[in-house]
Amino acid sequence: MAEEAFQAAILGGVERLLIRPSGPLEGTVEAGGAKNSVLKLMAATLLAEGTHVIERVPDITDVAIMVQVLEALGCTASRQGHQLTVSVPATSALSAEAPYELVEQMRASIVVLGPLLARCAEARVSMPGGDDIGSRPIDIHVEGLGQLGTSFTTAHGYLEGKVAEGRLIGQRVALEYPSHTATDNLLMAAVLAKGTTVIENAAREPEIEDLAAMLVSMGASIEGAGTSRITVEGVERLEPARHTAIADRVVAATYLVAGAMTGGRVTVADGRPDHMEMLLAKLRSMGAEVGMGPEGLWVAGPDRLTASDVATLPYPGVATDYKPMLVAALCVAEGVSIVSENLFEGRFRYIDELRRMGAEVRTEGHHAVVRGVERLSGAPVRATDIRAGAALVLAGLVADGHTEVSGVDHIDRGYEAFERQLGVLGADVERVA
Ligand code: EPU
Repeated sequence: MAEEAFQAAILGGVERLLIRPSGPLEGTVEAGGAKNSVLKLMAATLLAEGTHVIERVPDITDVAIMVQVLEALGCTASRQGHQLTVSVPATSALSAEAPYELVEQMRASIVVLGPLLARCAEARVSMPGGDDIGSRPIDIHVEGLGQLGTSFTTAHGYLEGKVAEGRLIGQRVALEYPSHTATDNLLMAAVLAKGTTVIENAAREPEIEDLAAMLVSMGASIEGAGTSRITVEGVERLEPARHTAIADRVVAATYLVAGAMTGGRVTVADGRPDHMEMLLAKLRSMGAEVGMGPEGLWVAGPDRLTASDVATLPYPGVATDYKPMLVAALCVAEGVSIVSENLFEGRFRYIDELRRMGAEVRTEGHHAVVRGVERLSGAPVRATDIRAGAALVLAGLVADGHTEVSGVDHIDRGYEAFERQLGVLGADVERVA
């Protein structure tokens, strides 16, 4: 599946999802391993020679691309089901260059920068492209890694870093903004640096805690991961590890929102309420019931959700990644909601597509005013990023007639067997060529 999805991504995505009105959705699904954890856990393997095993690795295109990144750097990887084994060579056999063809497809490849600088004292990484969600600079990564002793130059589309003393030096680094992947990069750089690094205003996402947990099992010394101050005592070397990724809170949220907006009852077996408190609070404020039962985290939707205002913020605020699905739900909720995007400019592009489905949404800068309608109207629409794609599929569930979502390669980047999982819940979603 991942290989097929990868090919589809290269070919520009020829498949579509055909959605017919469905619901109420009922049943139990699993979210699986968190993409935004697993990609970093994979990068972390670069920090130690030997064979690492990562469990609960989702079968999605972004993982397939990261496997190719690791292979381009000199590692070998093999997967069995959801288990991924990565063998990392001695430093002398590691390449320090992450090529354009791969980084261009997945912005998250930038997280090899920190580990490469820590391990090889140099790195050459193509400037990232990735999701079409506005301008996404990497100045915070560069500034932080610079403070640990890297000098950077850019030429021919590549960012080149060289570590002056051959080893990074621990420092107090204050981030201008709690960037998720910049925190990942600094954390992975600091574990092999000389001395103590303190990352202030660090991102607090559960995926950062997960990365820190794997690094600690490799022998790193880290305190405070999951808070805004992370302290790292650098060590001389790390050992390979076996680690199980946490469940994907955004995938879990997608199924919960689908349940709530169709007036159904959906359980996510591996859902972690402690990782998605704000999302659950939002669902409650929209009139859904949410709880933790013997089978997992469940939601039960009312006949019709009610409007609620949403403002995205860095974790533990309402994640920007939840927003497209919440907007899809608010499009059919009773009343008017105001949605504010505070992280990514341009992350409202899918709203034009929702409008084509009869949604009444007006955008003004980074705000959207959503006036709920009773039903949407199925139409051909295009996914522009992973979460936009998921949101359009959810919208199709509550739209009369057929909805055809193209750009499915975006959805495959982050959702394993999306249509099959929704099918388990009773949704009528079919992949067509
Ligand atoms: N920013 C800068 N300079 C930087 C880094 C970030 O100005 O050097 C800005 C960005 O432009 C943006 C804001 O800071 O406006 C947030 O960016 P952040 O760096 O926190 O995001 P990210 O690390 O690039 C990760 C996830 C995203 C998720 C965001 C926010 C990964 C691989 N990606 O991105 O996930 O939306 O954090 O939580 O971890 C997705 O899974 O679909 C996805 C886009």
